[in-house]
Amino acid sequence: MSDSIYDLVIRGGTVATSSDVFAADVGIIGETIVAIGSGLPAGKTEIDARGKLVLPGGVDAHAHIEQLSAAGIMNADSFESATKSAAFGGTTSVICFAAQHVGMDVREVVTDYTALAKRGATIDYAFHIIVSDVTDKVIVEDIPALVAEGFSSIKIFMTYDRLRVEDEKLLDILAAARDAKALVCVHAENHGIISWMVKRLTERGYTAPKYHPVSHARLSESEAFTRLIAFSELLDQPIMIFHVSTREGAAVIREARGRGVKVFAETCPQYLFLTADDLDKPGAEGAKWMCSPPARTTDDQDALWRALELGDLQLVSSDHAPYRFDDTGKLRAGPNPSFKQIANGLPGLETRLPLLFDAMVSNGRLGLSKFVELTSTAPAQIYNLPGKGSIAIGKDADIAIWDRVREVTLTDAMMHDKTGFTPYVGRTITGWPETVLLRGRVLVEGDRFAGQPGDGRLMLREGGAAAAPGGRRVAEMDPARNFGAELL
Ligand code: URP
Ligand code: ZN
Ligand code: ZN
Repeated sequence: MSDSIYDLVIRGGTVATSSDVFAADVGIIGETIVAIGSGLPAGKTEIDARGKLVLPGGVDAHAHIEQLSAAGIMNADSFESATKSAAFGGTTSVICFAAQHVGMDVREVVTDYTALAKRGATIDYAFHIIVSDVTDKVIVEDIPALVAEGFSSIKIFMTYDRLRVEDEKLLDILAAARDAKALVCVHAENHGIISWMVKRLTERGYTAPKYHPVSHARLSESEAFTRLIAFSELLDQPIMIFHVSTREGAAVIREARGRGVKVFAETCPQYLFLTADDLDKPGAEGAKWMCSPPARTTDDQDALWRALELGDLQLVSSDHAPYRFDDTGKLRAGPNPSFKQIANGLPGLETRLPLLFDAMVSNGRLGLSKFVELTSTAPAQIYNLPGKGSIAIGKDADIAIWDRVREVTLTDAMMHDKTGFTPYVGRTITGWPETVLLRGRVLVEGDRFAGQPGDGRLMLREGGAAAAPGGRRVAEMDPARNFGAELL
């Protein structure tokens, strides 16, 4: 076997891409897929994939790792623990955040986060740069330079007391991103509505976790989407709307895309599988299900599935934001905090793909190719990761081999992140990634983890969707309405 041209052959499986499902062997040399076909010659090593699905590793484009929250709480995961848990869930690339808080130098922030990831990550990673302090230096120096170096997406919050960016500053960011050809990702909720609701609810004694969804009124989402889309249209700058949670929000996006505005959008498993009722638990327990925006209703779930089917939403990311249910995380303000004092966020890197596989493949909702598209191919395309996102010749051999009939009941103890719980505890799902490869090397085999901290590689990116064709320039849509946009 030693004279074989292939270092590894994955033999006899069913390969799925975002457009096809077919029986094939996959031949790998070094880190790269070099052959796909039946009856490939023997490899130096082989993986028997008969009866299994051979899928591209997941690309999770939204995860908070080793990051300081809006309220200054360090999240529970290191790069090592977060990426290990991602790998166990079939994900081989992650885009996380280099988070600037007010007063911090963006360049130093990027240097610090890349150093942490370089030391700890076991899968490949890239960064969105969170900007919360929009100084002249950020606009004139940092954004152009960092985007040119490959950090080609910026993340902005329209809410959260310590991170949010006001409208005028948001326009500054959109204009700088347009010039640099970066994509701007936005947490879009109306800050005024939420703050006002929190104050009113708290004054009236409604402080349990179940009031968190009430405070994030549905209209706070659709209003912020509408305003943000107007800014995007004004400047002809593409945006990515993060974590869409409501039917109305999805409708605003559909309408804008129909007019040719370059708006992309994601949702997350928590909006497809959880509802606000999950927060209604005794005492502070509901804190485990608290994220922003909150999970809504089954009607919203239906609307989001439909929006994914129609292409109005293009991605399902985890928004992994891990806080333990103890005094280091959710209960930092004490055992009975008011909902306003509880850190927002759920763990989800490990469960994203299995939950979606169960719904989409095992239960037939939208099917296998759409599963591959939403979880791997589309994020790789939109964020310009050309080596990732598909089983195709020349791509990185990032591959998850799925046992499509394995039934797993999710428990807190089986998770590999450091949160200590999963919001999906007790659910039984069908289908599990049993073997996971990163660039041709086995990372996960059953219960065994073969990765090492430092195995992950920084992925630098050109502009991606920001530079891609698609949509129409504002002036082409209606020159009279946006007269002067080209001067900005
Ligand atoms: O609740 C969430 N999603 N926490 C993480 C930070 C964010 O809003 O994306
Ligand atoms: Zn967010
Ligand atoms: Zn987030």
